Amino acid sequence: MIGLGTMGRNLVLNISDHGYSVAGFDKNAAQVELLKKDSGDRNLFTTSALEEFVNALKAPRVILLLVPAGKIVDEVIQELKPLLSGDDLLMDCGNSHFTDTNTRIEELAKSGIHFMGVGISGGESGARYGPSIMPGGPKDIYKHVAPMLESISAKVKEEPCVTWLGVGSAGHYVKMVHNGIEYGLMQLISEAYHLLKVAGRMNNDELHDVFSEWNNGMLHSFLIEITADIFAQKDELTSNSLVDMILDSAHQKGTGGWTSQDAMKLQVPIPVIDIAVSMRDLSAFKKEREAAQQKLEGPGYKFEEDKKALVSWLEQALYFSMITTYAQGMSLLHYASKEYKYDLKLENIASIWRGGCIIRSSLLDDIKSTFSRQSDLSNIVTDDGIGQKLMQSQIAIRKIVQIAVDTGIPVPALMGSLAYYDSYRSGWLPANLIQAQRDYFGAHTYERNDREGTFHTKWNHENE
Ligand code: 6PG
Repeated sequence: MIGLGTMGRNLVLNISDHGYSVAGFDKNAAQVELLKKDSGDRNLFTTSALEEFVNALKAPRVILLLVPAGKIVDEVIQELKPLLSGDDLLMDCGNSHFTDTNTRIEELAKSGIHFMGVGISGGESGARYGPSIMPGGPKDIYKHVAPMLESISAKVKEEPCVTWLGVGSAGHYVKMVHNGIEYGLMQLISEAYHLLKVAGRMNNDELHDVFSEWNNGMLHSFLIEITADIFAQKDELTSNSLVDMILDSAHQKGTGGWTSQDAMKLQVPIPVIDIAVSMRDLSAFKKEREAAQQKLEGPGYKFEEDKKALVSWLEQALYFSMITTYAQGMSLLHYASKEYKYDLKLENIASIWRGGCIIRSSLLDDIKSTFSRQSDLSNIVTDDGIGQKLMQSQIAIRKIVQIAVDTGIPVPALMGSLAYYDSYRSGWLPANLIQAQRDYFGAHTYERNDREGTFHTKWNHENE
């Protein structure tokens, strides 16, 4: 393992717990010391000398990289390359951009070195006790590391949350979309919190109870579970709840934005994820928001209806919008798989996301079984079972969006989710007018709905 930060250290311990001999390297001797301290009576080889590390490994070597994505990965590869031999395998387990992974695969192949992009999800505790692992690369090479990855991964009903996903950068692509969905779900949950806190005037104890209850029902998922915990956490520095002391300005390392960028490039609509990225950006405009608050008024309406009804509508609204968020991510994977020739099996992806990762939820059981019936489905919303769930919960999300509009509480991801549903189920959309406008001002031409061909009209330019 190269890179002994928290994730790297925890993965080393996890691998070692499963009977594999493992060596750890980090340039920073302090990180090496931390691993030594955590390793107890394990017989781990650790060093901060790269050559010593490489020489300690039996060829062909299997080396996992867990260093920050970006140029550090290239720097490590450059230092490492002269020390490696043909048939050695490098597995980049960080959140690298999939196009970087493609470049690295090509570069290293020139020296006969194999390179795999491997997404790992589950945070610190996932790494230590069982993450969801998303490997891509050459299938025959994957076979050598499959037993090790299967043993350290999370398990759902004894099935390991890892499987080979596809060639090239497939693993990193799938991990990127996982993170895009993660952004969407987190934004939706925070909008529900906003409504409960402001419209429903609930305190943190009540919020803890609501989210705990939700986690026992149809919203059962890791993110709902940790949200319930968060509301129960007290601050160590004051006597307040910790959540109330945290600045409302969200950070990001970029994977959500990459998902949106690639979806835009492929022209696949994923509005909830796009909105989630924009809302993190908007949250960081804290000073501008505070200034605008002094000037711009909202509707001044207060929600006075039954709190219990609000909670119940919101539960269904979240269910509805979470389904459409997974649907958007899965649809992106469907089209990206064709464009990049990954040949992804979406059933397998839903399956390995059921445990270990940040977006694990009981909804993924339904999504997995949908793809087991229709492996090439471009959008799960048209599946009979899933469509039924959306139709049943749509009244609630319409009610919630109405309350948000009336009270002036921003719920863009919930709105985006509903608009996505309404647009996707519209056989006719007003895009004919957009085409007419394009042809009017730019002679961009249009197609007709009654005959084949491309048309241009000499419009009545009355205003010119
Ligand atoms: C995971 C997480 C992990 C990390 C995100 C955070 O699957 O374990 O997605 O990869 O927490 O990169 O991303 P942001 O910093 O962009 O929120």
